[in-house]
Parts: sequence; C-alpha cells; structure tokens
Amino acid sequence: MSANKMTSAQIRDSFIHFFESKGHTFVRSAPVVPQDDPTLMFINAGMNQFKAIFLGDNPKGLKRACNSQKCIRVSGKHNDLDEVGRDTYHHTFFEMLGNWSFGDYYKEEAITWAWELLTEVWHLDKNRLFVSVFKDDDEAAAIWSRVSGLPDNRIMRFDEDSNFWEMGDTGPCGPCSEIHYDRGDIATQEATFADPVLGVNGTNDRYIEIWNNVFMQYERISTGELVPLKAKNVDTGMGFERVCAILQGVKSNYDTDVFSPIIQKIAEWSGVPYDQGPDGTPHRVIADHLRSISFAIADGALPSNEGRGYVLRRILRRASRFARLLGQTEPFISRLVPVLAQTVGDAFPEIKERQAFVAEVIHAEEDRFIRTLDAGLDRFDKIVAELGSAKIIPGDRVFALYDTYGFPPDLTRLLAEEKGLSTDEAGFEKSMQEQKSRARAAQKQSVNTMASEGWTTFSEVSTRFVGYDLPSCETKITRYREDKGVLSIVLETTPFYAEMGGQVGDKGTLVSKQIEIQIFDVIKVNDTIIHRGKISKGTLDESSMSAVFSASVNEELRLHLRRNHSATHLLHGALRQVLGDHVVQHGSRVAPEDLRFDFSHFSALTPEQLIQVENLVNEQVMQCLPVCTELMKLEDAKASGAIALFGEKYEEDVRMVSMSSFSKELCGGLHVSNSGQIGLFKITSESSVSAGVRRIEAVTGMGSLELLRQDSLVLSSLRDKLRCKNEMIVGRIDAAFESAKELEKNLQSAKLELSMAAAQEILTDATLIEGVSVFAKELQFEEEKFKNLLDGVQAKLDESSVAFLFNRVGDSGSIAVVASKGVQQKGLKAGDLVKQLAELAGGKGGGRPDRAQAGTRELDKMATAVSAVHDLVKEKLTK
Ligand code: ALA
Repeated sequence: MSANKMTSAQIRDSFIHFFESKGHTFVRSAPVVPQDDPTLMFINAGMNQFKAIFLGDNPKGLKRACNSQKCIRVSGKHNDLDEVGRDTYHHTFFEMLGNWSFGDYYKEEAITWAWELLTEVWHLDKNRLFVSVFKDDDEAAAIWSRVSGLPDNRIMRFDEDSNFWEMGDTGPCGPCSEIHYDRGDIATQEATFADPVLGVNGTNDRYIEIWNNVFMQYERISTGELVPLKAKNVDTGMGFERVCAILQGVKSNYDTDVFSPIIQKIAEWSGVPYDQGPDGTPHRVIADHLRSISFAIADGALPSNEGRGYVLRRILRRASRFARLLGQTEPFISRLVPVLAQTVGDAFPEIKERQAFVAEVIHAEEDRFIRTLDAGLDRFDKIVAELGSAKIIPGDRVFALYDTYGFPPDLTRLLAEEKGLSTDEAGFEKSMQEQKSRARAAQKQSVNTMASEGWTTFSEVSTRFVGYDLPSCETKITRYREDKGVLSIVLETTPFYAEMGGQVGDKGTLVSKQIEIQIFDVIKVNDTIIHRGKISKGTLDESSMSAVFSASVNEELRLHLRRNHSATHLLHGALRQVLGDHVVQHGSRVAPEDLRFDFSHFSALTPEQLIQVENLVNEQVMQCLPVCTELMKLEDAKASGAIALFGEKYEEDVRMVSMSSFSKELCGGLHVSNSGQIGLFKITSESSVSAGVRRIEAVTGMGSLELLRQDSLVLSSLRDKLRCKNEMIVGRIDAAFESAKELEKNLQSAKLELSMAAAQEILTDATLIEGVSVFAKELQFEEEKFKNLLDGVQAKLDESSVAFLFNRVGDSGSIAVVASKGVQQKGLKAGDLVKQLAELAGGKGGGRPDRAQAGTRELDKMATAVSAVHDLVKEKLTK
C-alpha cells in the first residue's frame, strides 16, 4: 500500500502491527479519566497507565507494550488549551501512539525501530527528518548516527527544556530523543532548521515534532531529587493526528480524515464555509473540543463546578461560545456527537455505544450556557462602559468573565478587538496563576499513593489474593511505608479486597506475635494491593521481615458488603427493565452500611416507578437465584449479554457475575452466593446528581431491618402521643395543624379587640386647638403591645384628631404620632411632628404623614417633648 493513501485508521493499525511484529503486546487505551492516580486530572500521555510499572510494580511481568492512547491536555504540566484552534496542530484531545519497554530493550532498539517505521514502512523522506538528543546523551547520538546515517548537524542537542521528559511534578522521567519533520514546501515561514527561533524546537510550524522517545530511568520525588529507577525503560509517544497530516500530505491536522468529516458538518449546518486560515478558528475549536468533551463524558466524567468537571465545563463553554460566532443560538456541539462516533467509533467503541448519553449531557450543558452567555455579554458591555477612555481591559476583569461566565480569554480578546480595545494578558495570567496555585494546594492534600519513595522493601514477590475463597490467612509483609502515622503495607498473600468498582475496601487486622495492626482501608494501585492501617501494638521495623502475620478480614462487615454489592447488580437490572436500556451505571458505592447507584436517566423516577423497581429487586431476592461467577474472555462475556461499565478498563480475561438471566455484569467484586441472602431491599432515596444522571440509595439485609425498626419506633411514639391507630395518624396531624391555625386566627382577633379597647381608653380628654382634638398621653407599654395600641388608635381616631403617644419601656422611649386625614390636610403631618419632637427628646425618627414613630434613649428629655405638643400644634395650624 502506498503510504500517502493510508486512512487514519490504517495508519493507527500499521503502527500497532509494526510493534506487535517486534514482540509488543497491544494494550487497550485506558479511559481518559484516570482510575487511580490523584496527581492527574486527565490521562495526558500513553505512559500514564504504566506509571506504576515504571516505578517498579510489574506483577504481571509485562515486557513490551504498544497502543494508541486517548489523551486530554488541558491543565497541569502539559497544557495547550489556549493554542487550540488558532494553530493547526495543538489539540485538547489527541491520540498518542506509543511503544514501551519495561526493563527490556533500551536506546538501541527504540531508535532502530523508530527509524525503520518512519522510513521503511511509512517511507518518509529522510531529508526531511531531524532528531534531537539530551545534551550529554552521547550514547543516543551515536546510535542515531549509525542507524540513520543522518549528518551530525541534524542530530541536534538540547537541554532539559526540550529533551528531558517528566510526567508531572513527581513521577517517572528521563532524557528523551525527539524526531522532527520538515514540512518545507507547505510551511508558512522559511528558516533553516538550526535557527534557534524558527528552526527545530522553535515557534515555526514548518519543523514539527512527531515522535518523542523517552529513556525512562529516574523518578522525580517530592523533594525534587531524581532517584534512579530499578530498571531502564523506554516510553514513546507519537502525535497521531500530526503523523496523519504528514502521511496524508495535507497542511493541517484539521485537513486529515480524523477531523474533516466533523469540520464539513460544522460548515454545512452553520452555513459558514471552513477557512484554513484564521477565519476557520471556530470550526477548528469546535471540532477539537467536541472530541475531548465527548471522550471524557463517555469515560465517566461529567461537567460540574469543581475539579475535572469544571475543566470539562470550561472546554464546552469555549466550544459553545465559538459556535455562537458561527451564528448558532441553539445547542450545536451535541448534534455533532454522532459524526464523531462515526469517525472513530471503530477504534474506540465506547464512543459509539454511549453516543446518545454523551449527546444528551452535552445538550443539557450547552442549553444552560447559552442562557448565561447573554448575561456574560451584558457584563462585558458593562466592563467596557466602565473603562471610560481607557483602551485596555484589565486582567482581573478578563479573569472574572472567564471565571463567572466561562468566557475563554481569547474570546474576550476577540470581543475587545471588535471594539478597538485590547486585553491585559499579563494581568489575566496573574489572576489565573493565583487560582491555579489555590487549586494545586487543594490537590496536594490527597495522598500520592503511587509514589515509590519511602518504602522499606523485604521482598519483590507479587501479592496473591485469596479473598474470594478465604476470610483470613497467614502471610508476611513484603514492603511497608509510614506517612503521618498511617502505614501502607503490601503482603505476600492477602484475603483483603481493595476498593474497586465502587466496592469499598475491607477492614480487619494484621497480627503477629509482637505486632497488631488495624487495617482501616485497602486500595489498589496498578495491580498492587495496599493495606492502610494503624499500629495498635508493637513496632514495625527491619526485624519484621521474617514475622508471620495472621491477616483477617472483618467478616461481618464483609457480609453486609456482599449483600449490598449483589443488590446493586439487581437494581441495575431492574432499572433497565423499568426505565429502558439507556440506563447505564455511572458510578456506584457499595459499603457495608448501604449502597449508592448512579445511572444515566433524564428525569426523576415517579413513585410508581420506584415501587416497580423495588418490587422487581425483591422478587429476584425471594426467588433465591444462585449467584454465579465465571472467568471468561471479554468478547464471550459481551456476547452473552453481560453489561460492561463506563470508564472501566477491562482486561481480555474478565469475571462475569450473573443471577439467572436477570443480571449479568463484568465485575471483580464480592457477592453473596445466593440472592436470597440479600434479604429485604429498600430504597431510601432518589435524587439528581447532574444533568442526565440520577442516584438511588438503598439498604439491604440487617440495614433494611434497622431502617424499618427506626421507622416503626417513630410510628409507635406518634401512636402513643396521638392516641390512635396508624391509619389515623395523618388525619390527626392534619386536624392538629388546622386547629393550631384556627387558634392563631382567634388569637390575632382577640389582640385586635384588646388594642381597640386600650385605644378607646386612651382617646379621652382631648384638648381642642383651632378645631382639632389633640390627644397627648404618656404610657408604659411593652413594645409589642404599644404597636398593637397604635393599630387600635389609627382605627379609632376620628376625622379631626391627632394623637401624641409617649411610651417608656426600660431605658428607651418612643414617640408616636397618628394623624387623621382631615388634620393632615390642615398641615399636621405625623412624620414632621415626630421629627420635631424627637429632636427635643434627643432622639431620631420620622415616617408617613398618617403615622410616624421615633426613638430616644434620653428619657429625661421626654418631658420637654410632652410639654411642647400644644405649642407645636398651634404653630402648625396658624401658619
Ligand atoms: N511520555 C512521552 C510524551 O508524552 C512519550 O511525550
């Protein structure tokens, strides 16, 4: 086959076949959402899933591997987000073709095979290839020279910046050797390869890096030191989309068949033709972001307000904002999901299988953003208005738009340019860095269980797990580590089940003659089971190497766990029967106390549906179905109808757990042997997790009994208090509420009557001034009563009257004036009168013309105010 006719699928296959022919095992791409590495937000390199192997844990003895790994680079060390769509070769989502050696071959073979694949299989022109090595790696330089015959000046040397690859702040790393390609005749800028700015490793996309071969030989530990790894390894990564562009002879990654079907649809549906220059940025952004968002969701992530979900939301918003630039005011990205599924569904079937769900989640999220977009644009206009004559939008404003409305900075820049303004990019960067360091500080708190530092190692044997059959066994410690009083322990043989697939880890004890350790959690890192515990007797040290321990799982807790786990499978099956096949598990947590099951579904379950689900599960329980576990090939299990879960990485050999034909799932967890052991299954809540995902919580066995017991205790105490039977309780409570309401009403009207009577009493002995009846009274009423009294006075006062009330409670005084309509017209306004009297009494206040009030703390001045009433009235009336 002629190389430049290859489709992207053929290019991917030919890479994998090439390395299979060199003794490599094909390992499926890991999901983009990391399974067990708290230092990573998304999988960002092919080697991620092998991190633990590089660090020395290789229980399966894997020697050589190859694959095409789905990667997302949007945060952390390898972050290209802002470039994406502007140039033609950066992506948030990309495939990384890779081959690996775990303590097997090294530089010689890696370099020889790289050259062979590029020049003999793919027939790349040698004259366009350049290689680089780490500055003092004479060994790699010599191999390149011999293998490729390239002249010395095209075997270039660079320092740490370009030629020392690290996964993150900590983790495996090493010097690397890159291969660059000169796209010469299609490049935009002419420059020699040795030009420090525009040449190899420069800013010019004429010379483009296609493949990185890392000679992984160190681990960077948290102090910053480099510690040599036990074995020398090879880790390579080739940018799949870039290689496709080169082999297909097109200008940009976006012109390859990886992207063109998507770009075509964007152009067709928006009516805006694609432009390979700057005007095509929206098409490129949307096509790129569609891929990262869709794969992240298919692998189990969901847009949210924190962590990974927040990053996802940001990418989606950036895409959505660019869709608006193409005139789209309705959800647009979600429509493209089937096009994506069509293009890569054969290599990554998960995107085909979950496309309906992925599209629905994106649609809901876009819909929400489109609603806030207009608010964001309003905010932008306000920011511009506040600028006055200034021409630069400050960085913190750009950041606020980014943070609150999800406006990517390059879009704000674009909007600014349209108005002849610019943005303060350095200021934005500063705000961004501040936020990042806050986020980083938060992330550091999680335990880096993967780091290999700090272990005391007695032996290298891999752990044997015997927990499916045994609750306890005799064993020895192979290695341990202590971190802030918490021990991490690896055992020769263990009955402990590590947290996995939602099932929490076992608890139990590890006991020798001298030492007792309480195990409170068990986790799995790569394939190593790590027991986390605290010492309750003795000390662990070098002398513990030969000690024999008895490892025992808390069997009671485990039995509860088994019940809840098997019940989760039945629940999954029941939900699919009642709601439909679109229901897929989106996460679960199986603990001894209860179970939680998250699944895809777009509306709340009705009470009838909940009852149906609960009944269906309990029917399976009462049928006492045997629970069968079988080991089989993944394909066979799928063919027999077993459900595989989101974001789960399956080996070729899987364990299938089934309960007749009602439930068949791939699962490594612990189960009861017969569904009858589950006991009563009772749903305790149904709620929403996010758009498109619902959550059911439930209890089983003794948990259900306890729940019912608690509920019946409440009922019996209600029966006692209300002195009635169950069926009368609700009626009695309703009646009690009714009567309380009635009493409240009566109380209010009694209060009113009282205040009317009190008002009546007060409205006596008026002084007649210019035809106006003036009442002035000094009182000592509680505040509440005084307020009621004023209501009464206002109701009783006749047309030509005004009342002045001076009240004292404790050390504070109030002056209130109530004026009838008639006297207001004559110039006696309550608000004005109160104000003047308050001044005399050392207080403050005012109010409406019909009723006003003031307060004072100077009680000795109240008398002055009282004696001023008549003169004040006269003065107002004669004015
Ligand atoms: N892990 C190396 C990279 O990502 C190959 O470039």
